[in-house]
Amino acid sequence: MIVAIPKEIAPGETRVAAIPATVKELIKIGMEVIVETGAGEKSFFADEVFKEAGATIEKDTKKLYEKADLVLKVNHPIYNEQLRTHEADLLKNGAAFVSLFQTTREQEAVEKLTKNKITAFSMHLIPRTTLAQKMDALSSQANIAGYKAVLIAAAHLGKYMPLLMTAAGTIPPAKVLILGAGVAGLQAIATAKRLGAQVEAFDVRPAVKEEVESLGAKFVEVEADSDDGVGEGGYAKETSEEYKKKQQVLIKERIGKSDIVITTALIPGKPAPLLIPKDMVDGMIPGSVIIDLAAENGGNCELTKAGEIVKHNEVIVDGTLNLPGSMPIHASQLYAKNITSFITYMCPEGKLNLDMEDEIISGALFAHNGEIVNEMTKEAFKN
Ligand code: NAI
Repeated sequence: MIVAIPKEIAPGETRVAAIPATVKELIKIGMEVIVETGAGEKSFFADEVFKEAGATIEKDTKKLYEKADLVLKVNHPIYNEQLRTHEADLLKNGAAFVSLFQTTREQEAVEKLTKNKITAFSMHLIPRTTLAQKMDALSSQANIAGYKAVLIAAAHLGKYMPLLMTAAGTIPPAKVLILGAGVAGLQAIATAKRLGAQVEAFDVRPAVKEEVESLGAKFVEVEADSDDGVGEGGYAKETSEEYKKKQQVLIKERIGKSDIVITTALIPGKPAPLLIPKDMVDGMIPGSVIIDLAAENGGNCELTKAGEIVKHNEVIVDGTLNLPGSMPIHASQLYAKNITSFITYMCPEGKLNLDMEDEIISGALFAHNGEIVNEMTKEAFKN
């Protein structure tokens, strides 16, 4: 089987779907690996190191796709301006394709992949189970986003993060509030704590209280039925109106005292819940900062603009997208490991083994034989 690693063409993308170590792993199971010239350039993996790992380097994008039985990418296929062709149309009929994207949102990519009879998988659909942990690209990338969000917030903030006792007086620690204590949120808590901030966090799932506290942060609790925000598989679900009201009162009070607010609230398959309306931002301390990690899904703050840093009165609202892309070396390393774990799991003998009884393989598959086979994706297309 020939595996191709194209150069990512999405604006601002710095990551790559393979690193030399994962090229070696793919070769070990009997695959042949072709890497496009410069594919690893922005994450500091030169063509030369891919070659040393056993890959062939191909400078012609069309040829790379023509040869490939399996294409591994970071982003969904998009229109290639230079070649005046959509990436999905470069794939040969019947080839397999894996990347990380929301199939419920990127309808053009899904349609094209389906029409071209591509066997297409999204790392976004890999179930978050114990067995699939090493394939969990959503978590590896969200971890980076949580970490980077705190560093960006600290850079925006005109204050120290830690408590400092100096000859010129005592500086109190910065107050950080994290809304949503999932993967990104927990990493944000840990990072803010390491920088010495005073951290508190809120989540609709009471089960995360212990994890929040074990990181040394305070858990902000809404008094309610214990399972109000808890949905299937322990994921969050939409809360009752009564809960929402109580939550709003509590968040408003905490936000008014915070220097940094990092929002990460997400309900799978839904737009991001609105947690910070404009009037709450009006009540924030001048110079304070909101980093909205949910910007891509509509934002947890009413004032968030996806991909932009806006200033409202004296408050910065940062909706920067693709934070993992700002840390391309480790983001690529972890993503490449996730995707390679998925490939070696699915193709132990170096050939595609489409075991539809397997929940990881069938879970990640969304298009096959010209049909959309993922229910959530199919559902999204009806609307
Ligand atoms: P996750 O599913 O692990 O965590 C989300 C958390 O939000 C859960 O703990 C959930 O209980 C909580 N939540 C849901 N509704 C809530 C509400 N109303 N109030 C408080 N908490 C609520 O998700 P993960 O992987 O941590 O991702 C978090 C967000 O970060 C997502 O929106 C994701 O798209 C985004 N993200 C952004 C990146 C960027 O570069 N900007 C990169 C990676 C992820």
